[in-house]
Amino acid sequence: MTLVVANQKGGVGKTTTSINLAAALAQKGLRTLIIDLDPQGNATISFVDQQQVELSVYDLLVRPEVTAEQVIQPGAVENLDVLGARISLAKAEAKLIGEFDSHFRLKDKLQPVLDRYDYIVIDTPPTLGILTVNALVAGTHLLVPIQSSYFALEGTDDLLETYEKIKARPNPDLQFLGVVITIDDKRTVLARDIRRQIHEVFGDKVFRTTICKSVRLEESPAYKQSIFTFAPNSSGALEYYSLSEEVIGRV
Ligand SMILES: Nc1ncnc2c1ncn2[C@@H]1O[C@H](COP(=O)(O)OP(=O)(O)OP(=O)(O)O)[C@@H](O)[C@H]1O
Ligand SMILES: [Mg+2]
Repeated sequence: MTLVVANQKGGVGKTTTSINLAAALAQKGLRTLIIDLDPQGNATISFVDQQQVELSVYDLLVRPEVTAEQVIQPGAVENLDVLGARISLAKAEAKLIGEFDSHFRLKDKLQPVLDRYDYIVIDTPPTLGILTVNALVAGTHLLVPIQSSYFALEGTDDLLETYEKIKARPNPDLQFLGVVITIDDKRTVLARDIRRQIHEVFGDKVFRTTICKSVRLEESPAYKQSIFTFAPNSSGALEYYSLSEEVIGRV
């Protein structure tokens, strides 16, 4: 299973969801790989010391001779490996543009290591560019975090259009796994309205688990940890655990 966490809207909880979902799966004893396709590298620094990332996903995508084995590192958590990003990844789009196989680079490079993992989780940048397309071509399932805030659904049409295009040609096996509502503020009327809108648009694709707004979840990246080590008894830990159960149930 290769789960692509994507939404081209920025700051909706893609990275937080990728990190904590991957950590929850690993904690269950499932062999998990997290791939960081965001040049900001936030998912990477949660599990490895970025200084140690000599070869990164940039090298994997751009240099034909670099293999996934060379780039993957064990993460700070048991059962979790990391394919890390550095800021150099920001140059990848420019390097790949015009290459005839630019959309297939990640898929091709992952092929030899697929059977090592039960789950691969890919965090993507807030664009629908070559990196996100590489993730969707390599993926088996798309998971879309949507923040229950104003303009929540803005841009989801473009995302779904990209999903349909990729499903039509390069990756017919890609499935829409679901939508997770994130950074939800249960107290506000606005958030309740947006939740209702999201349910109207996505119906039973919306996960029952909602990730609430939480200071613990906001703080955990600063401490370079997943929520399960940073605040194992917090509501965020329970919610991401419950999301991981739903994900396993759906795939
Ligand atoms: N449930 C939550 N409660 C409170 N803060 C959160 C929650 N989830 C994420 N955040 C915070 O919101 C910000 C955006 O989250 P995150 O980085 O996961 O989003 P993103 O979609 O990956 O952003 P980008 O598009 O820039 O990659 C971060 O500061 C993060 O710590
Ligand atoms: Mg991010």
